[in-house]
Amino acid sequence: MTLSEFQQLVTTLADDGAKLIDQATTASSLEEARTSLLGRKSGRLPDLFKQLPSLAPGELREAGSLINAVKAKLEAALEDRRRQLDAASSSKRNVDLTMPARRQWLGSKHPVTLVIEEIEDIFRELGFTIALGPEAETEWYNFTALNFPADHPALDLHDTLYLGENVMLRTHTSPVQIRTMQKFKPPIRILSPGNAYRRDFFDASHAPMFAQIEGLAIDEGVSFVDLKATLTHFANRFFGTTKTRFRPSYFPFTEPSAEMDVECQLCHGSGCPSCKGTGWMEILGAGMVHPSVLNAAGLDGDRYTGWAFGMGPARIAMLRYDIPDIRILYDSDVRFLYQVSG
Ligand code: PHE
Repeated sequence: MTLSEFQQLVTTLADDGAKLIDQATTASSLEEARTSLLGRKSGRLPDLFKQLPSLAPGELREAGSLINAVKAKLEAALEDRRRQLDAASSSKRNVDLTMPARRQWLGSKHPVTLVIEEIEDIFRELGFTIALGPEAETEWYNFTALNFPADHPALDLHDTLYLGENVMLRTHTSPVQIRTMQKFKPPIRILSPGNAYRRDFFDASHAPMFAQIEGLAIDEGVSFVDLKATLTHFANRFFGTTKTRFRPSYFPFTEPSAEMDVECQLCHGSGCPSCKGTGWMEILGAGMVHPSVLNAAGLDGDRYTGWAFGMGPARIAMLRYDIPDIRILYDSDVRFLYQVSG
């Protein structure tokens, strides 16, 4: 083969190769181009190398540098094209202009907190102040002063979380009634939100730690009418105008005692699975403060009367936001929090 014939073949290969590389639009078609051009077995360039011995010895040097130059050019072109294809596919992966913009995730208040704040606002308007008390209590504040008999089952280790002899996690917020009456003279109107603890299993409607809100109003001449009127007003403010009813109940620290129901907020009284077909939902316990409780706290039970109530904001949050299982409130799942308060 003459040098000019060889030159011709090298130029054709360079042109064909450039076209082939240019036309490759995917990593696999580029790989095919590489094999057909440079592949050791049947690539066109190695084939040309095999032609070298057929040239005159004096022309070998020039022919060699020609073919090496084309080899370098093709390798560089393949590398360039690989980079272009890479960049194109990764930019496709990273920028999807049809995707919705990302929203910012801000913190939000827990539904139980929202309910507590709303209840506080309603009672604050009625002249109630917030009073807090310790979560670790003595037996006297938690039970004795509240007129629980010494053999009441609530005093049992089985029901109450004792921290030591005579000290326990309070089982309700009612000890705050006693602490308040010891400290302040009537008229007293307080609202006391806080945590309470019971040895309950953690199931769909019980948690061993739960929020409670206690209310207490004491003065001369306070009657059950005040209790009914205030709690009915509260229910209408909180749920929107709604039916309420009071049922007789029992608590050691109130006499008479009652439980208040509101019309089921889901079926509006016609009966559904959430209200077990009754059309009503219990929201709180209440009653006239027992004279022994007033006396235990150092107030004159002949002169003063008053009423108290206690309710569970988790239960109210479940009614309001239609939450079927109390454990959802403790899961810290932000997707749920967003549904309620986002
Ligand atoms: N302490 C009661 C409970 O935990 C609730 C309650 C408070 C009832 C005040 C009446 C008066 O169930």
